Amino acid sequence: MASSILKHSSPTIYTTLAGLASILIIFVIFSFLTQPNCLQTDIVHVRSREPLLPPDTTNISHLVFGLVGSTQAWHHRKSYIESWWRPNITRGYLYLDTTPTDDLLPWSQNSPPFRISDNITKLFLERNNGEPVMVRLVHAVMEIFRDEKEGVRWYIMGDDDSIFFVDNLVDVLSKYDHTKYIYIGGHSESIMPNEILSYDMGFGGAGLIMSYPLVKMVQKNIEDCLRRYPKLNCADQTLMSCVNDFGVALTAHQGLHQLDLHGDVSGLLSSHPKAPLLSLHHFDQLDPIFPSMDRSESAKHLMKAANIDQSRMVQQTVCYDRQLNWTFSCSWGYSVHIYEKIIPRSILKVPRETFKPWILDSKPPLFMFDTRPLSNDPCETPHVFLFESIKTINATEVITSYVRVASRGLPACELSGNHSADLISRIEVVSPMKKPTQDGKAECSDIVENKMELARLKLRECMDDELIA
Ligand SMILES: *[C@@H]1O[C@H](CO)[C@@H](O)[C@H](O)[C@H]1NC(C)=O
Ligand SMILES: *[C@@H]1O[C@H](CO)[C@@H](O)[C@H](O)[C@H]1NC(C)=O
Ligand SMILES: *[C@@H]1O[C@H](CO)[C@@H](O)[C@H](O)[C@H]1NC(C)=O
Ligand SMILES: *[C@@H]1O[C@H](CO)[C@@H](O)[C@H](O)[C@H]1NC(C)=O
Ligand SMILES: *[C@@H]1O[C@H](CO)[C@@H](O)[C@H](O)[C@H]1NC(C)=O
Ligand SMILES: *[C@@H]1O[C@H](CO)[C@@H](O)[C@H](O)[C@H]1NC(C)=O
Repeated sequence: MASSILKHSSPTIYTTLAGLASILIIFVIFSFLTQPNCLQTDIVHVRSREPLLPPDTTNISHLVFGLVGSTQAWHHRKSYIESWWRPNITRGYLYLDTTPTDDLLPWSQNSPPFRISDNITKLFLERNNGEPVMVRLVHAVMEIFRDEKEGVRWYIMGDDDSIFFVDNLVDVLSKYDHTKYIYIGGHSESIMPNEILSYDMGFGGAGLIMSYPLVKMVQKNIEDCLRRYPKLNCADQTLMSCVNDFGVALTAHQGLHQLDLHGDVSGLLSSHPKAPLLSLHHFDQLDPIFPSMDRSESAKHLMKAANIDQSRMVQQTVCYDRQLNWTFSCSWGYSVHIYEKIIPRSILKVPRETFKPWILDSKPPLFMFDTRPLSNDPCETPHVFLFESIKTINATEVITSYVRVASRGLPACELSGNHSADLISRIEVVSPMKKPTQDGKAECSDIVENKMELARLKLRECMDDELIA
């Protein structure tokens, strides 16, 4: 994969590293600027100072979202979008199929402004195939370019149930050269949808990110492209073809989540790849990620943590209580797991298979990543704690709390000394306000307290040569 689309922290120095297989590797190699503190009001971020960022660094005003939805679904999907949308700060539009019904008016100030999609009936009839909504989705690339151009560096196309992590998008995109032709997307988590559609396609619900020059070039040709591929019934596949026909290929990013899964995705969110979380999709198809809440409450709840620190969102840190032979695995802002055994990070980074594939009756192999089977072995089964609240202690520290979901219902792990963690009901995690140094390593943590009912962890940078095992 060509790496010249990535740029060094200094916007004037573009790096060309030939032969590196993956863009992610490059993220790991460069040491980026130390990021400034982030002070927080309730909803909106207030960056305290950004003294080290060059003035031309990509910021939130350079991103434009093109969300495509339907008036009917907006009644319940509105809460997903409003969970992350920042009124008058995030730019973009929601494209609806019909004029909003009276119960949606006056239009909520907390929603993206809406537009009615162009009438694509003629184009649809010419193609004589598929669903009108599919043509509307592809056509929206042309419409968002027409509606919003001024100072735009990146267009992000999403669905009406795509949850975006905007600060992380800004951070990640600021490392790419927006003046080049770039198409960033995520694969499906399940093998079958990739097999059926394409392994080179960005799955749209997870967010399709295109640089300004790419959109400018592709949108002019979008109607011709729709006519060129009348047999394609999937919008993402059509858009991929339109982009590919200009010689541009997919840059896959592990933080974009189509969530082509069913059931309980806690296993994946508790062992997220070491990449910034950029999006979550398909909330309607999944169990609520917080079982005590419904789906829209779950989205809002997750954003309580994300509104304060997106850089650590679902980033995994692991530490050990050597006296008790316990392992703590924390997915910041979402969950903490305690295992009654010492387990190395190399195993804990593999998601527990709590979920099912998108196509339920698929045959293995099911997923695009490694998984750990679930088991009833007390030495392999974690005690599960989920995010409850977040509080800023002062300008340098934040504390997140996690509470036990349910009793594990298993005896203690005898092989590791029979030390039960049943009594622990709450875990507090202290983390720095400052973003983690992006030196390619995850953060480390220490157990600062481990009493009968409460355990406290503190995140910190790992020491040189520190092993997590
Ligand atoms: C974003 O960067 C532009 C320069 O490209 C600057 O004019 C603008 O004030 C910045 N906006 C924010 C919100 O930082
Ligand atoms: C957004 O801006 C509009 C017009 O400038 C203003 O009327 C509205 O109150 C603002 N909304 C929020 C939530 O700040
Ligand atoms: C859309 O366009 C078609 C013809 O291309 C026309 O028949 C139809 O009335 C239009 N629909 C709307 C809602 O304007
Ligand atoms: C923030 O709070 C922690 C713990 O209470 C304390 O150790 C630290 O010194 C405080 N930092 C500042 C800048 O006040
Ligand atoms: C920890 O587990 C090992 C076996 O994995 C066992 O030999 C050791 O005694 C245990 N230590 C304690 C303090 O229970
Ligand atoms: C492990 O602990 C449980 C509960 O304290 C106890 O009933 C059991 O006998 C212990 N097992 C061993 C092998 O010590």
